[in-house]
Amino acid sequence: MAIREILKMGHPLLLKRADEVTHFNGELRQLVADLWETMAQVNGAGLAATQIGELSRVVVFGGFVSPRYPDKPPIPTTVLINPVIEPQGAEQSEDWEGCLSVPGMRGWVPRYTAIRYSGFDEKGVAFSREVEGFHARVVQHECDHLDGVLYPHRMRDLTRLGFIQPDFPGGAPSESAAD
Ligand code: NI
Repeated sequence: MAIREILKMGHPLLLKRADEVTHFNGELRQLVADLWETMAQVNGAGLAATQIGELSRVVVFGGFVSPRYPDKPPIPTTVLINPVIEPQGAEQSEDWEGCLSVPGMRGWVPRYTAIRYSGFDEKGVAFSREVEGFHARVVQHECDHLDGVLYPHRMRDLTRLGFIQPDFPGGAPSESAAD
């Protein structure tokens, strides 16, 4: 395992579409281990392979209690490979997000409120879940990374993008963020 460098917005790899995983092998397990170790180092909520410069359709997330939804079940510790997201209805919600590739900032981002997501775990076993709220937000944020999309690209009002500070409404870092 290794802690890897997290690429920052402006790095060209963050704008690339990642490739489907075709072999569930030791190389993939190494990548997943690096993602977990790197995410833990920075106390993230999730991390996409693209963010450490690996253009594979692999994201990891969860394993913590959401401070925004303390009464809801925590997001399970999840490795999601070759993900497919299907919105459940057209409804969207907006909330603050942050990103390890856009450090120190928060933005107000629309996402589908409820989604079904499916894909494979690191052993190649297929699974799917129907989720809503913060869980749905985190999954959409992470999977966007695999298509070269960062949360500022999703924003409709760039006056609601700013650095974390006491007088910025997205300011409290514990209150939001997706990865
Ligand atoms: Ni991110």
